[in-house]
Amino acid sequence: MTFAGNPSSNRYEFGANWASFVDNHYSAERRRMAADKLLSFLGKKSLEGMDFLDIGSGSGLHSLAAFDAKADRIHSFDFDPLSVSTTGKLRQLAGDPSNWAVEQGDVLDADYLETLGTWNLVYSWGVLHHTGAMWQAVENAARRVAPGGLFFIALYSSNVVKPSAEFWLDVKRRYNAAGPSQRRWMEYWYIWRFGLGRNPLRLPLLIKQIYDKKKGRGMSYMTDIRDWLGGWPMDFADDQAVVDFLKERFDFELVRISTGEACTEFLFQGPSSPPQPELVNVQT
Ligand SMILES: C[S@@+](CC[C@H](N)C(=O)[O-])C[C@H]1O[C@@H](n2cnc3c(N)ncnc32)[C@H](O)[C@@H]1O
Repeated sequence: MTFAGNPSSNRYEFGANWASFVDNHYSAERRRMAADKLLSFLGKKSLEGMDFLDIGSGSGLHSLAAFDAKADRIHSFDFDPLSVSTTGKLRQLAGDPSNWAVEQGDVLDADYLETLGTWNLVYSWGVLHHTGAMWQAVENAARRVAPGGLFFIALYSSNVVKPSAEFWLDVKRRYNAAGPSQRRWMEYWYIWRFGLGRNPLRLPLLIKQIYDKKKGRGMSYMTDIRDWLGGWPMDFADDQAVVDFLKERFDFELVRISTGEACTEFLFQGPSSPPQPELVNVQT
């Protein structure tokens, strides 16, 4: 399902949201939670012996999590310069390690990706559906997986979106066209309608949800609301279509899947001797 606009224009300012997240919400506790969640989904105790390519690093918290999990080598890149500088800030916090590189890059730029080589853990959480060419982005990212390596991605699922994808695309268009105070009202509207379900008695449930979000990946409720209302361009993917695509194109096996949230998380493993799929442009 494709609803994205022109990828080079009309983008949401993801980087500004991530800069504000790190400035206002970064904590050692979130850092630890992000590492715990990363390792638990991978079913590992550490990332020793693995290298980690973070595509669309955003705040950089998950690259930092990989660093804390003792990945041998980390490379983080993002399209948005403010995401890049924010990831750089967290790298600095980790002591400017020489085994962690941060730079600006575009997952749709096949020539750039080629320069990165292959990695035994490629991570791209909540990114590939915001490129304007989701299937091409999935393809480009999957090509970076070394033989037998892991591919951990999260994509907005068309299987769970409510009330409908069209509803949210309209909201997103309005949010992106709005000024700061109108955006603030839309965030309150979101909390009232979807956080509280128009029922103030649901406040304890919302508080639990906010805590769970932090506990999950170390994220913040308000940062995620802004990301959700603003995130543009935007696609939704059918869960099974993702599994089928990666099986057919790369012979990737699904190792783990987590569904039911806005983003479905997938962990795939590539074959030890990968097939050589033809270089084609994937139609969205
Ligand atoms: C929703 S955020 C996710 C950030 C991070 N992966 C996380 O899980 O918190 C999406 C990120 O993808 C980045 N992005 C969007 N299009 C991209 C592209 N073509 N290449 C690289 N990064 C991109 C955005 O700038 C943004 O920082």
